[in-house]
Amino acid sequence: MNHHHNGLSGAAGSRSRSVIRLENVYRVYGSGEGAVRACNQVSLSIGSGEYCAIMGQSGSGKTTLMNLIGCLDRPTAGRYYLDGVDVSKIGKYRLARIRNHKIGFVFQRYELLPNLTALDNVILPMMYAGVGMAARRKRAISALSRMGLSHRLDKKPSQLSGGQQQRVAIARAIVNRPVLLLADEPTGALDTHSAKEVIQIFQALHASGMTVVVVTHSREVACYSQRIIMMSDGKVLKDDMTPETVRQLAPL
Ligand SMILES: Nc1ncnc2c1ncn2[C@@H]1O[C@H](COP(=O)(O)OP(=O)(O)O)[C@@H](O)[C@H]1O
Ligand SMILES: [Mg+2]
Repeated sequence: MNHHHNGLSGAAGSRSRSVIRLENVYRVYGSGEGAVRACNQVSLSIGSGEYCAIMGQSGSGKTTLMNLIGCLDRPTAGRYYLDGVDVSKIGKYRLARIRNHKIGFVFQRYELLPNLTALDNVILPMMYAGVGMAARRKRAISALSRMGLSHRLDKKPSQLSGGQQQRVAIARAIVNRPVLLLADEPTGALDTHSAKEVIQIFQALHASGMTVVVVTHSREVACYSQRIIMMSDGKVLKDDMTPETVRQLAPL
């Protein structure tokens, strides 16, 4: 569980623990003439503790890939090993359980429940995971404090700024201690200042050992990661770009 990718794995490299391993994965929408290969033979490995960004133009298949990686969807063909377990053909209920235990999600539009307070939004995934009542509250308060929101526990989403809502969503995403944090355009709806705060939180989570995968079309956001994966037409064009090589493509 804690064989962290250290960039020096050398001979052990191919054996270093992958949190995500996709082998020849396809996701085809529709059939016949109108079929769209939104994921077209994708093979990809992401190691424990890595901080990756997935980039690509609109329609290149980023969300489709994210949904597959996040076990919200299953491949049409190919294999997906999440944390060493082949989840490509697993039933819907087991998949939902695995998702709840292993993956934290952050979305562009926060997706908080509007009638629940910040605290209750963060408590909710722990109820599904069967965490006891006292522990739930304690852990939710601690996660929200980590996001700088200890003074906003009882606020509803509509009483919070966009940046605050996204930080509640991040607290919710990490509170079950997932092996993987997935974010789809997490700064897409935020102003520059709030976006910076969200990026800094991802960096801190990465520094504490979390595996982080962020989908973004912002080169600036991507450049805070360690490794940039480029998608085009459902395919992975490159999966080993660094912020340095991306910055050299063209000035920001
Ligand atoms: N549910 C769906 N049904 C049919 N086509 C879809 C569906 N979702 C996405 N697509 C198509 O798959 C391709 C990839 O979409 P998507 O994964 O949303 O890309 P991105 O997130 O990079 O914008 C696009 O051509 C899109 O129109
Ligand atoms: Mg998308």
